[in-house]
Amino acid sequence: MTEYKVPFLDIRGINLRFKTQLINHFEKVLNSGWFILGNHVEEFERQYAQFSGTKHCIGVGSGLDALIVSLKALGVKTGDEVIVPTNTFIATWLAVSATGATPIPVEPDIKTYNITAEQVAEKITSKTKAVIAVNLYGQPADLSNLKDLCIQHGIHLIEDNAQAHGATHREKPTGSWGVINATSFYPGKNLGAMGDAGAITTDNDLLAEKARIIRNYGSPKKYIHDELGLNTRLDEIQAAILLVKLKYLPQDNKRRQEIAQIYLEELKGIGDLILPTTKPENTHVYHLFVIRTKFRDDLQKFLRQNGIDTIIHYPIPPHLQKAYKHLGYRKGDFPISEELSNTVLSLPIYPTMEQWQIELVVDTIKRFFNRQ
Ligand SMILES: Cc1ncc(COP(=O)(O)O)c(C=O)c1O
Repeated sequence: MTEYKVPFLDIRGINLRFKTQLINHFEKVLNSGWFILGNHVEEFERQYAQFSGTKHCIGVGSGLDALIVSLKALGVKTGDEVIVPTNTFIATWLAVSATGATPIPVEPDIKTYNITAEQVAEKITSKTKAVIAVNLYGQPADLSNLKDLCIQHGIHLIEDNAQAHGATHREKPTGSWGVINATSFYPGKNLGAMGDAGAITTDNDLLAEKARIIRNYGSPKKYIHDELGLNTRLDEIQAAILLVKLKYLPQDNKRRQEIAQIYLEELKGIGDLILPTTKPENTHVYHLFVIRTKFRDDLQKFLRQNGIDTIIHYPIPPHLQKAYKHLGYRKGDFPISEELSNTVLSLPIYPTMEQWQIELVVDTIKRFFNRQ
């Protein structure tokens, strides 16, 4: 494994800040002898619902499962259509496919990289059941307009909030705009577990109840099965870890925003760089700091040669993946997401990043463009 001076992400360092508390929480679970659907899951669900400004939170096994359970709770099934962004992690699409429904791709806005109500409106048909709005890279999508549009058409808005824990749109938290919302606590997320984990947030009592049943073998009561459910429960150890880390999420997001501000100021006007823009109605929590340049591949190589790791989110859009060959899309069908996949580069950004590391990233990028 290459040792970078600036790794893309420092998960080890992020978690080691809380070593004593994490070990204490782990010991509590160990001593309880109770690992599935116990006090820690209940308490985390209470606190994460409060954090999200929703009445309910249902802990599940992953972000993908959170999306699948949300769609199933809404009754999405074979023959239905669900609108999804072309530029997203493939899990957004896979969740739709897992229900038997068809993902209907919509191109994002080229400035925010998120879908807008105008674009979505063009794709609504009599088969459309739901829209999944991804708050990509940490910035909320066009949530208020998407919510109005969905109400107008009698369809459901679901947020995929895997990348934007703690962001706000019109001063209201992400994860509270859809009728039901899904998130991921994959270790690298702004709020990351130490394994797979995810959650659903909603204000709707019936949907919450349904989601609780679906995550647990379709069972409202032991050995009674009302739905064709799954086994996807947040486990006690992950909940205990998340309870420690949730307390620090606001300050960690603030640090991400400070680092983003330095990048925005220092990289303005450098070469052909396009920097992220935040809409005035949004706060951005910079899960990823994504820049664009036509020299992307060379820049990535130069940064690596100088000890800085970066990642491309995402190199191949879902419509061009083999898994979606059956939908028949070709290169050129979604030019915006294809352009993004050719030009985006995510710079290191994480709460334990040190000042010298931020400066090294900035200086190395400046050096690269001075040579062009
Ligand atoms: C936008 C988005 N949706 C869904 C997921 C899936 O979450 P998980 O990895 O927990 O299944 C992720 C992250 O992995 C994601 O970034």
